[in-house]
Amino acid sequence: MMSQKKILQCSAGALLLLLPWFGGLVLGEISNDFSQCLDFFYKKTPPQGITAAGHQPICQRYKNQYRFASLYRRQHRSPLYSAYILSPADGKRPDSTWMFEPQLGFSRAAAEMQCFQSTVDQNVIESQAVFEDYRNSNFTKGHLNPSMHQKTKEDREATFTLTNIVPQRAGSNSGMWNGLEKEVLRKFKAFCNGSMHVITGAMPYESEPRWINHRVSAPEYMWSAYCCPSYKSNLPKDVKPSFPTYAAVGRNDRNSGEEIVPVDVKARAAVRGYDVRRMSLEALEGILEQRLAMPITLFHGQCQ
Ligand SMILES: *[C@@H]1O[C@H](CO)[C@@H](O)[C@H](O)[C@H]1NC(C)=O
Ligand SMILES: *[C@@H]1O[C@H](CO)[C@@H](O)[C@H](O)[C@H]1NC(C)=O
Repeated sequence: MMSQKKILQCSAGALLLLLPWFGGLVLGEISNDFSQCLDFFYKKTPPQGITAAGHQPICQRYKNQYRFASLYRRQHRSPLYSAYILSPADGKRPDSTWMFEPQLGFSRAAAEMQCFQSTVDQNVIESQAVFEDYRNSNFTKGHLNPSMHQKTKEDREATFTLTNIVPQRAGSNSGMWNGLEKEVLRKFKAFCNGSMHVITGAMPYESEPRWINHRVSAPEYMWSAYCCPSYKSNLPKDVKPSFPTYAAVGRNDRNSGEEIVPVDVKARAAVRGYDVRRMSLEALEGILEQRLAMPITLFHGQCQ
């Protein structure tokens, strides 16, 4: 249940957000090419090779600032990836107040993500995932850009838009995928000497999509890669291969085959089958190319 206070915060926010619209000054969140939010990509270059059809760039805007970027797949009602700059959280995970992207429903709607109100417009429901889709789905809401990789309270709150979320099994979300997110954070703190650009995404099933609520497609795998071009000298030997780039693929279906990510049969039951395999950027790009049938370059010049 939302507290009264939170509802008030939400409504006040929504009112403010309408003002620029009445002034005729629409700063689109929905973008043709991420031009408003290129800073979130290494060398201002979004991943190359992904065909435009059905993919909607979103510059994720919250409280009057761009916070990160997502590529949304309209037919799947879920993102293909979110791209962000990692900055360790300076506080706790916020209470989750879930938001949506008004402009997916109406191109002239307010330019910022908004909280769900008690009634949700039909155009919004048709254009994207809503809270109801996840209820009783046996999937958790998996952040691509996780809130604890974002410094300020507002940046963390902004990750709670469903356009940054994919259906993720609990055994992955609170198990080994969570371990990967923590490892990346640790590596940033200990060894990255400058900006770390991260792109985290969903890998669809090879043949048919799997849907929750017949509407939102669940990924077979999660994937993630970072680029930290400026890192500390004298890296320990075991850390050297993690710089300047690092990547991983995580299982989101314990029944998947083991050709991409093998299973550790000795893992504890709650997380068994949700393994994460660390790999090079090149290896991840090879897997993505096969799966998405597109040659993909995640970071300009391989982050060199
Ligand atoms: C969720 O899991 C339970 C227990 O395994 C199962 O009975 C139920 O059908 C599942 N629900 C959906 C929507 O798949
Ligand atoms: C980090 O970068 C700064 C400036 O680019 C440089 O002066 C410093 O030596 C670097 N630190 C390490 C530990 O490599």
